[in-house]
Amino acid sequence: MQFKILATSALVATMIAGCASQEKPDDMAAQKAPEPAPAKAAPAKPKLQMGATDSMLANTCAGCHGTNGNSHGPSAPTIAGLEADYLLETMQAYKSGNRSGTIMGRIVKGYTDGELEQIANFYSKQSFQGWTQAAVGPKAKQGQMLHEDFCEKCHEDGGTSIEDVPLAGQWMPYVEWTTADYLNGMNHPEKDMKKAMDKLAKAHPELSNATVAHSLSHFYGSRSADGYKRVPGRLK
Ligand code: HEC
Ligand code: HEC
Repeated sequence: MQFKILATSALVATMIAGCASQEKPDDMAAQKAPEPAPAKAAPAKPKLQMGATDSMLANTCAGCHGTNGNSHGPSAPTIAGLEADYLLETMQAYKSGNRSGTIMGRIVKGYTDGELEQIANFYSKQSFQGWTQAAVGPKAKQGQMLHEDFCEKCHEDGGTSIEDVPLAGQWMPYVEWTTADYLNGMNHPEKDMKKAMDKLAKAHPELSNATVAHSLSHFYGSRSADGYKRVPGRLK
């Protein structure tokens, strides 16, 4: 377990500000440490993951995503309470490159499919806590208009539904970057969402992708105080 945290944080500490790395970034030796030097009677590489429980595995994500998946800063999204299927598919999309990310692609490569499943189970059982954020009225208004025309169909109730991926209550910068990645064709979502993004771009040639993503994030952010809908029975 430990070597994953070491290797990961050494790799990304310079890339992600605000994530609580548990190890010193200058501990670069950690990257090489896990491979035991080939000795004569080389013992088998220790299987560090053997028998790891869901929560032990999930602990390796906590430095960035928060102990129970409610992250404490906008550099990593909250992953608590999202559907297990969604979590698993998203991690696999990072693995295959269907979803762009600064670091998740590298992180998920360190886990087997079975381990990712365990981790997805763990986080799906935690409860999502929407954050109250400083959304700006006029931007939120433009975002609301765009949302209603192009997103509400799937991200119901103004993006507050946990049945879908919650967008309200999620960190605004994350929602903004991710939406921009979809608009710019860097993420490869299911077909219908791609259609919605294309339709939006066609209907609003006057708005840049960056402006669209920015206003939408303010709309979702404006809903985080009161808009998040908890579905009884779904969350702990
Ligand atoms: C060093 C910080 C860091 C660590 C450790 C980390 N993540 Fe992430 N995670 C991120 C960032 C940043 C993103 C946004 C995508 C990107 O830039 O790679 C993200 C995105 C995600 C998403 C997408 C969320 C969504 O709403 O779609 C999931 C799921 C996720 N991480 C799960 C995990 C799991 C599970 C682990 C542990 C195995 C983990 N992450 C470890 C930083 C981290
Ligand atoms: C036809 C259904 C559909 C429509 C319409 C749709 N989405 Fe999505 N959205 C999805 C699905 C399904 C996912 C899950 C991930 C994927 O497929 O990439 C998703 C994921 C997302 C995510 C990633 C959330 C996260 O936590 O990482 C964002 C951001 C998002 N959608 C924004 C939007 C915006 C903004 C619009 C409107 C312009 C929109 N979506 C329209 C179905 C839709």
